[in-house]
Amino acid sequence: MNQTLHDSALLLRVDGVTVRFGGLTAVNNVSFDVHQGDLLGLIGPNGAGKTTMLRSIIGVARPTVGRVLLGGESLNDLPIHQRIRRGLSLSQQLVRPLREINVIENVALAAASAKTSSPWKSLLHASSADELAVAAQELKRVGIAAMADQSPTVQPLGVLKRLELARALALKPRLLLLDEPLAGLNSREARELANTIAEINQQGLTIVLIEHNLGEVMRICRRLVVLDNGKKIGEGEPRAVMADPVVRAAYLGGDALGAAAAEGQAAQPSTPKEASHA
Ligand SMILES: Nc1ncnc2c1ncn2[C@@H]1O[C@H](COP(=O)(O)OP(=O)(O)OP(=O)(O)O)[C@@H](O)[C@H]1O
Ligand SMILES: [Mg+2]
Repeated sequence: MNQTLHDSALLLRVDGVTVRFGGLTAVNNVSFDVHQGDLLGLIGPNGAGKTTMLRSIIGVARPTVGRVLLGGESLNDLPIHQRIRRGLSLSQQLVRPLREINVIENVALAAASAKTSSPWKSLLHASSADELAVAAQELKRVGIAAMADQSPTVQPLGVLKRLELARALALKPRLLLLDEPLAGLNSREARELANTIAEINQQGLTIVLIEHNLGEVMRICRRLVVLDNGKKIGEGEPRAVMADPVVRAAYLGGDALGAAAAEGQAAQPSTPKEASHA
């Protein structure tokens, strides 16, 4: 693969996006680009506006001001299902599979939903051989093929997180948006799932990853964008960004875990949090 060619193509442009909820400005005039092949970490303290940013890309939240463009086309006037058809897919932080159907059927349902805007029609398609074949392939890709015929209700969080990833992949996106895929996992599970995400990126899929696990972010991301209080306060090569005093101050002024992780990555070899899992 010609990496230079892939890296140079602009895939997503976020152009001056502001999202307000009543009097609260959750995202404040944020701009950044995502290039083909990128694995971009979108980080920042709690309440920084990261999830709102991803929701404004997929169309759940609407910008008050600004534009989101995919492959040069403005998405602003498009509903969510049209954005999905154009190649966006969002894996949510809270995993909510349908409990009544098994693991592979949950992924097949996602594959089917990419073809129709109607949840009822996608239910009809979900058991087709085509959708089940896509689902089997994605379960294998995320490493949970062995659980295909089991109920999601008996799965540990580590499997459910991978199921959510498989559901997002089944939409065959050009750009995968991941909201805290590692949240709640222990350090070994987090490392393994981060490896899976990095492999999927290396296979050619462009990814925007929201994560609080800064150790894994630093390990797998090619670039970072940092939000704080709705504003972009940093962007660029991960080590340079995390060494920036403005970024460090945002974490130190915020939650303690973020501060510890920022310290661990930018200045110290290990943190007490990591040591306790070792
Ligand atoms: N639907 C909504 N209605 C009103 N306020 C909202 C809504 N969604 C988010 N907010 C507010 O917008 C701000 C940014 O929230 P957001 O969830 O985007 O932050 P975040 O960076 O994802 O935080 P975290 O790391 O805790 O997930 C917060 O003050 C939040 O309370
Ligand atoms: Mg969030």
